[in-house]
Amino acid sequence: MAKIHLRPVTEADLSILFQQQHDPEAVAMSAYPSKDRGEFMRHWEGILKNKNVTARTIIYKEKVAGHILFWKEGKYEQRVGYWVGKEFWRRGIASAAVIEFLAQIKIRPLYAEVANHNIASKRVLEKNGFELLDEGTKISIFKLK
Ligand SMILES: CC(C)(COP(=O)(O)OP(=O)(O)OC[C@H]1O[C@@H](n2cnc3c(N)ncnc32)[C@H](O)[C@@H]1OP(=O)(O)O)[C@@H](O)C(=O)NCCC(=O)NCCS
Repeated sequence: MAKIHLRPVTEADLSILFQQQHDPEAVAMSAYPSKDRGEFMRHWEGILKNKNVTARTIIYKEKVAGHILFWKEGKYEQRVGYWVGKEFWRRGIASAAVIEFLAQIKIRPLYAEVANHNIASKRVLEKNGFELLDEGTKISIFKLK
């Protein structure tokens, strides 16, 4: 299991998080539309002020490896989402970050939305006890009771 720790996201992290979310391979994997720098920074200014969002930076070997979020939204409220920078993939970082985050965020149920082709993210969720709730044509919803 990768040795990671989580800490609150700071403004100083945002340039790195922007580069990570801008990567075309990562965008294709997540199926979330990529934001340009301005949109991304405005979006994150809102996140950092929003009391309904818990945003954590994933630190691995003293580097910003990605982020993990909890927020409340829509029909499937109480959502979790995460993003790991490409150079850190396949080292168990997302799996370890979700374990640590679930220990900190005790609210249940939790939901996650995943593109059907995103095998890695589905695996992260399933290993952490999330179950398939609703399989759409492109996106599926997972639930942790
Ligand atoms: C999905 C993502 C978070 C996975 O991060 P990661 O740190 O590489 O994940 P882990 O190393 O913990 O691997 C989790 C599992 O997925 C598998 N996996 C990782 N990358 C994979 C890939 N590209 N294809 C298939 N399986 C993959 C791993 O082997 C592991 O399975 P195992 O435990 O059975 O061996 C990362 O690829 C990412 O951020 N992608 C872009 C954004 C995104 O998709 N976010 C999630 C939106 S729901």
